[in-house]
Amino acid sequence: MVGCTDLAYRTIARRFGCEMAFCEMVKDRPVVEGHPRTLAMLRTDQHDRPVGMQLLGRDPAMLADAAQRLEQLGADVIDLNLGCPVNKVVDDGCGSALLKEPEHIGRILEKLVPAVRVPVTIKMRTGFDDGDDDRFLHIARIAGESGVAWITVHGRTRRQGYSGLSNTDAIRRVKDVAGVPVVGNGDIRCGADAKRMMDVTGCDGVMVARGALGNPWIYREIALALKGEPPPARPTAAERAAVLADHFALLRHDHGDEKALILVRPVIHWYVKGVPGAMALRGRGGRVRTFEELLAIIRDFAAAQAAPTAPDNP
Ligand SMILES: Cc1cc2nc3c(=O)[nH]c(=O)nc-3n(C[C@H](O)[C@H](O)[C@H](O)COP(=O)(O)O)c2cc1C
Repeated sequence: MVGCTDLAYRTIARRFGCEMAFCEMVKDRPVVEGHPRTLAMLRTDQHDRPVGMQLLGRDPAMLADAAQRLEQLGADVIDLNLGCPVNKVVDDGCGSALLKEPEHIGRILEKLVPAVRVPVTIKMRTGFDDGDDDRFLHIARIAGESGVAWITVHGRTRRQGYSGLSNTDAIRRVKDVAGVPVVGNGDIRCGADAKRMMDVTGCDGVMVARGALGNPWIYREIALALKGEPPPARPTAAERAAVLADHFALLRHDHGDEKALILVRPVIHWYVKGVPGAMALRGRGGRVRTFEELLAIIRDFAAAQAAPTAPDNP
């Protein structure tokens, strides 16, 4: 997730059982040209494994070149973004815009897959517009035949954005035709949601995005649910505040004090969701400037008289 899944985020996620994590999406050209800001988004370390890196682009040669750079930077998997709905990205013919061009996706994968030794995957939506059935299934077939290691499917069209529900029937249909493993994505907020996604679609794995923001406990819950075990007790406010403090320590390690105090602002927003007084904590979190202010927020968060609640999603 752009703006979210940096190294600190992934480190916390793995601590709670996340088995595979992706960096934030990056565009192919700045990777090839070695732009420092883009390379900083791809920061990883030896504990951050396996790690996926995701490319946005449309020129097969440029994407293949960028993929080779990502492999050198330590990517264990390289993913092609076929889902980003942002207007500017679509206007450039990238992300979800490529869902309108199955044959061009084929041309990209023909270059990309053999360009690197690591597995190449795609992440797609179920079409650009509603009613794009034939096309998204055609894309799944093309990708399967071109040698991708798996296909992740967010069960919404670009037109839907984030509205409605992830279409599990569409994900099942991709699974039927792809001939490679399929990862189901969309609206997984708890262990039971993950189990349902697997049961209903027959998919081989699940990907969680928004449901893990400020809620790394979801990975353990999913692992238990998939084994048929009941969910663990919800984390208390004090436990959540402690993980927020750890998250901040990691940001500080990676970015230094000044930048960490800025980067922690949205992170506070995620973690305090659902505790009494969350609004006020968020207000303070959005303005935090000093360690003293941050420590006071963490202290008040930890003391929130919460019956442990599910940190639901933003
Ligand atoms: C803030 C944000 C950033 C995202 N960034 C990416 C991205 O970089 N690459 C990608 O493939 N999907 C991205 N997504 C989409 C998610 O990966 C996922 O497909 C979508 O949110 C549905 O899953 P969820 O219900 O588990 O959130 C992003 C979503 C959000 C909310």
